[in-house]
Amino acid sequence: MRSRDAAARTPIIAGNWKMHKTYAEAVSLTQGIIDRLPKDATRRADVVLCPPFTALRGVSNAIAFDHARIKVGAQDCSAEPEGAYTGQVSVAMIADLDAAYAIVGHSERRGLLGETSADVAAKARALCAAGLTPIVCVGESREVYEAGDTIDFVVDEVAASLAGVCADADAAGLCVAYEPIWAIGTGLVPSPEHAQRVAAAIRAQVGATCGAQVAERARVLYGGSVKPGNVAAFMAQQDVDGALVGGASLDADTFVRLVLSALGE
Ligand code: 13P
Repeated sequence: MRSRDAAARTPIIAGNWKMHKTYAEAVSLTQGIIDRLPKDATRRADVVLCPPFTALRGVSNAIAFDHARIKVGAQDCSAEPEGAYTGQVSVAMIADLDAAYAIVGHSERRGLLGETSADVAAKARALCAAGLTPIVCVGESREVYEAGDTIDFVVDEVAASLAGVCADADAAGLCVAYEPIWAIGTGLVPSPEHAQRVAAAIRAQVGATCGAQVAERARVLYGGSVKPGNVAAFMAQQDVDGALVGGASLDADTFVRLVLSALGE
C-alpha cells in the first residue's frame, strides 16, 4: 500500500530503447503503443518513451498527431550549451524535438564510456536549468551487492550525481532510477523489499543534497529486468514511484501490458 506521500507522486513508466529501432521502426512502435494504451492510463501515470536521438522527432510527431499524452525522453545529453563537441547533442536540441525528459548516467554510459558522477551532475544541472526532467541513474555491481554494500555505494553515487543540481530540481521534477547493474538485461531482479530499502535511502540522500521538498516530490524508479509479471511488486513499494524498462519496452504489446500492470490493472 503506497503512503499518502507516495500517492501524491505521479507514477512514471519510462521505456529506454537503448540502441534499438531505426526511425521507421520507432514510429511504428510508438503507433503500436498509442493504439493499445487506454487514454486513462496516461492520465494516471507519466508514460515516457526514450528512443535514440535519431528517432526523437518521429516519436514526438506520432504522439502529437494522435494527441496522445505520452511523453518523450532522450537517453543522454551534453552538459554544454553548444560548441565544438563532435557527436554531442545539447539540451536545447532535444527540447526542440519535444523531449521533456532525459536519462543521464546510465550504467552503460558510466561503464562503457567512462562517464563519471561529476559528468552526470553537470548534465542533470543543464537539464534542470532548462526545465527538462533528468532521470539520474545509479546502481551497484554484483560485487558490491554481494558484499552487502549497496546502500553505501548508491547513496554516495546519488550525492555525487546530484552535486549542484538543487536550485531547479523541484520545478524540473527530478527522477532518480535505481538500476542494479547485475539486474540489467539478465532476468535477475532484487527482491521488492531490497528495492524499497534502496529507494528509501536514495530519497533520504536527495533530501540531504537537495532539501526536503525536492526529496518528497522526487520520483524514484526501479530498473533492471522489469517485466509485466514483476512490475506491480516493485510499484507496490512506498518509495518506488516508477520503472525504467529496457528490453520489455521494445514491443508494444509487452510494454502496454507492463504499464497496465504497474497501474494495478
Ligand atoms: P532491461 O529492462 O533490459 O533489464 O534494461 C534495464 C535498463 O537498463 C533500463 O535503463
